[in-house]
Amino acid sequence: MKLTVLLLSFVQLAFSYNFLVFCPLFGHSHTTYFAKIADTLTDAGHNVTFFTPTIIQRFSKHNYVKSTKNVIHLEPSEKLAILGDKFEEGDTSKFWISDSTVFEMLPMIDTFNKAFEEQTAVLGRNLELLDELKAMNFDVMIFESFVDPAYPLLDYLQIKTILPATSIAFDEMLSYSIGEPIMTSAVPAPMSAFTDQMTFMERIVNTVTSPLLYLIMPKRQFKSLRFPHSTIEISSQESMSSFVFTNSNPYLDYARPTIEKNVQIGGISVDVDQLKSQKVNQEWDEILNLRTKTILVSFGSIMLSKDMPLENRIALASTMKQFPEVTFIWKYESNDTDSFAKGVENIHFSNWIPQTALLADSRLSAFFTHAGLGSINEVSYLGKPTILCPIFADQMRNAQMLARHNGSVEISKYDLGQSQKLQEVFKKILFDQSYTTASENLALQLANQPVKPKELLVRHAEFAARFGRLPSLDPYSRHMSFISYFLIDVAATIFLISLLMFYVFFRIAKQLINYLPITLSPVKHKTN
Ligand SMILES: *[C@@H]1O[C@H](CO)[C@@H](O)[C@H](O)[C@H]1NC(C)=O
Ligand SMILES: *[C@@H]1O[C@H](CO)[C@@H](O)[C@H](O)[C@H]1NC(C)=O
Ligand SMILES: *[C@@H]1O[C@H](CO)[C@@H](O)[C@H](O)[C@H]1NC(C)=O
Repeated sequence: MKLTVLLLSFVQLAFSYNFLVFCPLFGHSHTTYFAKIADTLTDAGHNVTFFTPTIIQRFSKHNYVKSTKNVIHLEPSEKLAILGDKFEEGDTSKFWISDSTVFEMLPMIDTFNKAFEEQTAVLGRNLELLDELKAMNFDVMIFESFVDPAYPLLDYLQIKTILPATSIAFDEMLSYSIGEPIMTSAVPAPMSAFTDQMTFMERIVNTVTSPLLYLIMPKRQFKSLRFPHSTIEISSQESMSSFVFTNSNPYLDYARPTIEKNVQIGGISVDVDQLKSQKVNQEWDEILNLRTKTILVSFGSIMLSKDMPLENRIALASTMKQFPEVTFIWKYESNDTDSFAKGVENIHFSNWIPQTALLADSRLSAFFTHAGLGSINEVSYLGKPTILCPIFADQMRNAQMLARHNGSVEISKYDLGQSQKLQEVFKKILFDQSYTTASENLALQLANQPVKPKELLVRHAEFAARFGRLPSLDPYSRHMSFISYFLIDVAATIFLISLLMFYVFFRIAKQLINYLPITLSPVKHKTN
């Protein structure tokens, strides 16, 4: 008996690994995702350290991790704090009225790169802290793939096993580094508004955008924080990852070719059982009881409703007024609602909304959303029909990804000022039962997916901690040239041989005809 207990505790210990989750604080949704990863590993019995240097100070008071107790903060330098403020003011509000291709996103990407460079400098000035971290002998480090300061940190801590993760659904750059097929013919790029059915022109754009971006972006490399401070290229490190965790879900995202190294844990932050058991408080309960139908309207925490062009707000409010039997809960961040919604009784404005609790409530009819990936995952798992109005970044792709499942209607951000169009989408989502049925079907599939995202994360993280780097999962195709990878040489050879054979056959046939003493004159047959 004693022996069994002893053995059991030994087994427990032997399978408890030491994880470092590195997550600079620059975005609410990014940190939420990495905190969930940390907590999931903690809950599975592992020793997890959450290292979260501050970039945006507004978020630093927020407690992202729950069960993970070992949290390490690091103050930003003055320069880094200023760059963080720049993210905040990053003037995303222009995207209410302007296009958002990757090229409009370039100034933001530039600020990111500057902030990450300064973050690395801050790490370099806090080597005592890094020495303490090094003494903890981590088995594995998990971090966001495009957060470049992770690499000098890894190098300093001399952690061999790495698990890059992305909080977006699809990151072509990461796919490229690990040798995953990208297939631009039928898989829309991360920030594109295309679906999997693209026209010729769309396929051109979908194919050339990322390589162009790659060309104009600065080379991803870093200077080691250790003597002799050599320069190391990041893509060469990325390919050594044991696995990568992406925030996509095969039952939700486009069907596409992938490799075993890409572990898709999309939906990990949505704990359906917990959300369904959580009840809204009395205030929200009363609001949900006001009318037979309720629609939740939210554009997220980056695109603020208060910055929406006034004519759009006027059109939205006046359209909502035409549906007196519906309560509209609108996440709105200011007190100036009288300027566009005076006297409209069926709108409830609120600066803050308990989004997941509302989505989980059976009285909520539909969700009008900006299609941020967090919201898309939540609403998919909770099975509500959606009105999709993507604004910028990866939201267009997220919207198309969900719309495939037939539970959504879409409206362009440029049509938000048109009452007629708004009225149509409200009518469809409220009165056409097929949207609800399709959304519930998707939620049912997600609830019953063969392997749960949490289990995928824990099993693969443990496997990596135990076996380290996994060269067997590294496809050789990664080392091939463009010409051999796409079989252009083979296709050219087959084409030439076919041409040659055709020519020889033609010549022989010609000779034969010359030798044979028959004349091939057309013979007229009698037709009856
Ligand atoms: C977990 O990590 C902490 C901090 O490094 C360390 O003090 C503790 O001994 C570790 N526990 C196990 C079981 O590895
Ligand atoms: C709106 O008004 C409330 C109460 O008067 C106040 O507490 C809040 O700070 C105001 N919000 C804004 C954004 O002005
Ligand atoms: C959505 O509807 C189309 C057209 O009816 C259908 O072909 C497609 O299979 C449906 N998609 C899903 C995920 O049910």
